[in-house]
This record gives sequence, structure tokens and C-alpha cells, in this order.
Amino acid sequence: MANKNIPLFKVFMSESVDSEVLEVLHSGFIGEGPKVVEFEKALAEYIGNDKVNTLHSGTAGLHLAYHISINHATNAEIITTPITCTATNTPILANNAKIVWADVDPISGNIDPNDIERKITKNTKAIVMVHWGGNPCDISRINEIAKANNIKVVEDGAHAMGTLYENKPLGNHSDFTMYSLQAIKHITSIDGGVLVSNSKEDHERARLLRWYGISREVREAKDLRCEIDVAEAGYKFHMNDVCATVGLENFKHLNWITERHRSNAKFYENAFKDVEGITVVPETTNSKSSYWLFTLHLQNRDHVMNSLKEYGIMTSKVHARNDTHSMFKEFYDPNLPNALKFNDTHLCIPVGWWVSDDDREYIAEKLIKCSR
Ligand SMILES: Cc1ncc(COP(=O)(O)O)c(C=O)c1O
Repeated sequence: MANKNIPLFKVFMSESVDSEVLEVLHSGFIGEGPKVVEFEKALAEYIGNDKVNTLHSGTAGLHLAYHISINHATNAEIITTPITCTATNTPILANNAKIVWADVDPISGNIDPNDIERKITKNTKAIVMVHWGGNPCDISRINEIAKANNIKVVEDGAHAMGTLYENKPLGNHSDFTMYSLQAIKHITSIDGGVLVSNSKEDHERARLLRWYGISREVREAKDLRCEIDVAEAGYKFHMNDVCATVGLENFKHLNWITERHRSNAKFYENAFKDVEGITVVPETTNSKSSYWLFTLHLQNRDHVMNSLKEYGIMTSKVHARNDTHSMFKEFYDPNLPNALKFNDTHLCIPVGWWVSDDDREYIAEKLIKCSR
């Protein structure tokens, strides 16, 4: 048995969280307040877009983006990918919309713009792309397709804080971009999410919907507890000051965390480039991936997974195709050949900030050995 124990994921928690959180906990104000405002300001500066809403989860962000895109239309359809976390797709059902699956690239796992184009109907209200592992989809092409058809675009960037596309962080290219701040992401706020909008109208509507449809500013100016008219029913999706404090302190570390993931990824790319039987997912052109995941393809994937476990190396598929779940059965599409291919061979290996130079050499050596 190996004496190594290299995890696939690890929670990063800045030491500065301790004192800052204690202060907020005993401040007498733990709801949505000044810390949320401060965190949103820091996120807006980093993204280069001030239309930022923090939320209690990334899933809530997707829920709001779909809600606004559907805009109460009946028979709404949303084109999405089966190669993702189920959290991308369950909010489509929660919004009473129909799922239309598009196929993916068999190596990167990212949604295929050509298949998106084929799936558009008069009822399509949104296209969702998921940047697998932080490696961006063809954002420009998908936006061109959407624009030509008057459809909203939602980026699920749950894996992609730290990613750059055409030299800009995500949150500048599409109608909506969601980031997740869940426990094992580059930056965590314990649980949390961010919804970035491109239009002022969408941003303001999302802000209302995140808290029952009530404007806190308008209400507080009149009476602390009693609101004026609420025009549209919203949700309780806002972030609180305790989570915002954790997020804010951790966010100060985004740069070096992303750089360490990238350095480990580049090491693997080099180590595996001439190895028969291992196909590495290439980085999308015009982009810099956050490398939340390092994904490769192996014909003997399941054997390698088990063998690496014996060496103390944790690996996983992380997400498997989710179109086959019973909850999605009425939307089943038998013609998604590349999703099938991706799903049969993909594997994610430890790449994060906790993987040392020694660890990555050990992982590469054992992986090459097991893949033969
Ligand atoms: C691709 C993807 N989308 C959505 C989510 C949901 O994010 P959250 O857990 O913040 O709600 C996740 C969570 O990990 C995810 O991986």
C-alpha cells in the first residue's frame, strides 16, 4: 500500500478568515449587509463588470438566469449539455422549462456550437454552456448563434473562476455568467454563488428576484420592515455577511491559487504529450483555463482509476453524463454520440494548489505506468 494520500479536491481557507468572521458574528449584523457590498465590489473590480449579484449558491444563480431568460413564456426550451453537474440542469426543470440536449466535443466535453444551432426552435429561450474544468467553451461562436436567433446565453462558470477568455475574466461575454463559491472551488464562501449580468435591466431584475422581489433600498428608505408593492415573486437566494466575509478573505488568494493549478496542468501536459494511450484535453485557443480540473482520456480508464487508488492518488470522473437520469426521461435524446465517447474515457487527476512538485511527478509516473 502507498503511504501517499493525494486528494482530488481540497478546501482552501485563508487564515485571515478566523478573526474577520468572528468580528462579523458578534457585530450584531449577520444578514445581507456591508460585507456583501464589499465582496461584490471586489468581484466587480476583478471581472471588470459592476453588474454582480452574490447569492447563496451557484445553482441559485442559474435559477435566476433561466427565470429571466424564460420571462414567463410557456413551452420554453433551454439548450444545455449533458456533460456537467446535475445542478446545471435541475433549475431548468424547477423553472418548468423543457430540456433540449446538445452534444459536446468528445475530448474537451464542452458543448458543440454546431449541435446547438441544429437544436434551436421558436421556443428556445436560452443556451447554457458549461466550461468544463475551467476550460472555456467557444463563447464567441455561441453568442453569435444566440444573437442571430434572439436567445439569451448563460455561462455556467462553476469551475471557472480565474479563467480568462480573450484576455478577460468570464462575466463580460454573455447575458449571464454564474460562478460557484461552493466548498471545493478555487474560492469558497462556504456555499455561495455569483451571477454577473451584461445588461442593467437583467442585473436589476436578478437583484430583486434574489430577495422575494423586494428592493431593500426602497424598503429601507420608507420603513425597515414593511415593503411597498412587490411586482414579481422572487426567492430567498441572497448571500449573508458571514459567507461574504469568508468569500472576501479567500478571494484575495485567487491569483496564486489559479497560477499553481496552471503550473501543475502545464507539467502534466508536458509529461503526457508523447505517451501513447493518454489524450489530454487541450486548452481552448484565446483562453487561459483555471484548471479547476485536469482532464484526460484513457481507454482503460476504470482500471487506471482503481490502480491509482492503490497508489494513494484520488481520481474521479467528477461529473458523468446526466441526461440519463429518470428525472430527465421525457427529454431523452439517443443521438448524443460524443457525450457518450467523453463519458466512457474521461478522468480527472489531482491538479490543485495542494499538489506539490513531488506529488505531480509521482502522479505522472504512476499514471503512465498504469495506462500501459
Ligand atoms: C458545473 C456546475 N454547475 C453548477 C454547480 C452548482 O453550484 P453550487 O454548488 O454553487 O450551487 C456546480 C457545483 O459544483 C457545478 O460543478
